[in-house]
Amino acid sequence: MSEEIHDSCPKGKPRSPRSQGKRAMSVSTADAFASRPPEVTIAEKIIKTPSLSPSGEPQSDSSESDSSDSSVEALADLNKDVPRDELLTSVELCSVKDYRRIAKTLQMAFEQDPFTNYILGTEMDDSKSSLKARKHKTKLMTSFFEFAIYECFSLGGIVIAVKDRALEAEIAMKGYKASRVPFLGVSCWYHMEYDHDQLTYKYPQSHSFLANMHPTSLKFNFLASLSRCRSKVFSPLLNDVRDSVVSKLNLNGSRDNMWYLADIGTIPAMRGKGLAKKLVSHFCDTFVDASPNSWCYLESTNPVNRKFYEKLGFAVAKTFDVNEDDDEDQADHKPIYMDSMFRYPKIIKSHSNDNQSTAIQLIEKRHPAIHENGLYYGKFTEEEYQSAAKYVKSKLQKLENEIKGEKNIRENIEEYPIVPSPANRSRKVKVESLSDLLAEIIKTNGPLSLSAYMRQCLTHPDYGYYTTSNPLDKYTGDFVTSPEISSVFGEMIGIWLFSTWANQGNPQKIRIIEFGPGKGTLMSDVVRTFNKLAKSRIRSDQIEICLIEASPILRDEQAQLLCGSKLSSSDIKDSLYSKSSIWGNTVTWLETEKDIVDDTQYANYILAHEFFDALPIKSFQKSDSGWRELLVEHSPSVLNTQGVLPAGDSSAELSPDLETEFHLTVSPKDTPSSLIPELSSRFNALPTGSRIEICTDAELYALKMASLINNEQGNGAALIVDYGLSSGIPSNSLRGIYKHKFHVCLLDQLIKEIGYMR
Ligand SMILES: C[S@@+](CC[C@H](N)C(=O)[O-])C[C@H]1O[C@@H](n2cnc3c(N)ncnc32)[C@H](O)[C@@H]1O
Repeated sequence: MSEEIHDSCPKGKPRSPRSQGKRAMSVSTADAFASRPPEVTIAEKIIKTPSLSPSGEPQSDSSESDSSDSSVEALADLNKDVPRDELLTSVELCSVKDYRRIAKTLQMAFEQDPFTNYILGTEMDDSKSSLKARKHKTKLMTSFFEFAIYECFSLGGIVIAVKDRALEAEIAMKGYKASRVPFLGVSCWYHMEYDHDQLTYKYPQSHSFLANMHPTSLKFNFLASLSRCRSKVFSPLLNDVRDSVVSKLNLNGSRDNMWYLADIGTIPAMRGKGLAKKLVSHFCDTFVDASPNSWCYLESTNPVNRKFYEKLGFAVAKTFDVNEDDDEDQADHKPIYMDSMFRYPKIIKSHSNDNQSTAIQLIEKRHPAIHENGLYYGKFTEEEYQSAAKYVKSKLQKLENEIKGEKNIRENIEEYPIVPSPANRSRKVKVESLSDLLAEIIKTNGPLSLSAYMRQCLTHPDYGYYTTSNPLDKYTGDFVTSPEISSVFGEMIGIWLFSTWANQGNPQKIRIIEFGPGKGTLMSDVVRTFNKLAKSRIRSDQIEICLIEASPILRDEQAQLLCGSKLSSSDIKDSLYSKSSIWGNTVTWLETEKDIVDDTQYANYILAHEFFDALPIKSFQKSDSGWRELLVEHSPSVLNTQGVLPAGDSSAELSPDLETEFHLTVSPKDTPSSLIPELSSRFNALPTGSRIEICTDAELYALKMASLINNEQGNGAALIVDYGLSSGIPSNSLRGIYKHKFHVCLLDQLIKEIGYMR
């Protein structure tokens, strides 16, 4: 065990100690007094230092550091000569008059302490630093402690010191002023009161103005302003750690009675002589254990001290890196580990039949800060770190799946609702239209995500726009697409396909996959052109055609065009429609991209024309508390119960008279999907009130496409064609199209057979 103790923390503000001053504190080794050789007293060594004037005061500010250096040297010399049991020490209560001596002691104790130097911004290699820099460091550190100690007294704290009797006698006898002469060691304690409402310890403010008005405060603040002083940053951090530790401690109602060890230090020459132990154990005996429910708390940055405190009944509650918010990439980044430690009240210790270590229930296991492999795993062991990382990854995976659609994107076709479709009307709810269905869904499950609503409107098996009509029909359709206008469009893409395939060395097993093939016109033009160009190099049975199509009506159209006849039940193989094309290729229809079999032998060539712009979208609005999703609400349900539409409702933009059956409303709380814009710095840079649209399905399809064109040989390609702005963030991009004309896209009209595109 080493007792080279030098702990510190930024100052707390204590409540007045009870009966301070009434207790006599004196621990002496008087039995050693007689045996001490009179000629080597510490008093003589220190007082004889050249920088101390007969009055004991330094000549000037600049001589201050010389004074302390000489004191240290004197004490260091003495340390060699005086064995431990020959010291003439006593532990005594200090008064405010001693604040400069106490500060001097702490300045000498903490001169090389990494944490103190870190918070004061005085880290330096003393052997290489200029005299000026070292003087500044000494001055700043001294005034830091002077201010802290003065404040401690102002707030009723208790400071005890180990004094050398001979030195004190010498000072008194010869009339020296001792304000610059250190004690051998000091410890400063605050008594703190628990605020049960705020769940924190509060500091009595009544006298703190005294400390703040004192010149020590001005001097410290002035010197600190010249330095990278970070001391103020640490109070909130340490308070938070302490509050979280306290919240987990089983204190049996003893929270109120806490003693906080703010500072303890011995001058370097006196280390290893058991002074720190005296300072802690005598304080605990006299003040802490005098009351059965008093307990202690401290922070220690020196790992050497951990064992020391443990022997005195303390236990580590938490170890953390106070420096961790600093830029870890910086070459000079050094972690500074701090132990947060506590000592249970006597009442709890004495109730325990077991030994001290059992009585002290560790609230968080302590682990070595640095693993033997040289890596830092925070407060975890390597094993715990790995399992925590695994847990976090699995959570992220789940979240990713939710975002990508396992739940929130593909939310409804399979999962929604229990409300029956027309084919299954055994339930009493009357559902005769998509409006009925959506109204029932919303009444049962609450407002719907816009994408869920759109998905029902577009692809519900019984009522969907694509699933029940042919929007591309020459007579009854709503829109026309490029392949339908001229075969040149598809033929050009056929040429692109041929040249890509040829450039890849004529792969001999290929799949041409089209997402949303409409009437099949594009595929027909592409395959015909490709066949003409590649005829001699690949046979038709080596080319497969895959069509991803949600609409049974359009599947029939495609079969008619590519295979010469509509689909029939005899075309079902392995539960998929499959037919031979007029050129001899196998054509397979898949309802979703998930049905595509991953077969790495194929080189896949993917086409998607006006497919992405036909997918459902989600819409979000930025509020002061983050992104909020726009949800589809059933207006009569809201009006029936509330009389008015809720504030924040955005339907006014879409429907001025608010008489539509469905309207958009901004979700008052976050939804699982509102995390999606939260994750994007591009979206987060937008101002409050911004509205954005995100097509979450698009990412899902794009990922599938990417995996398909990345086969073993690296062959394959995708050609995606869509129309719209090439840059900018989409907002308000929904367009209704009805009979070849644009319409304001009211939600109700999405239901009523209006096509839409973005
Ligand atoms: C705007 S049309 C484009 C048709 C064709 N590509 C063209 O250019 O003529 C959209 C096509 O995607 C299909 N579709 C829409 N949503 C789909 C989905 N979720 N899964 C598969 N196909 C879908 C429609 O049935 C339709 O064939």
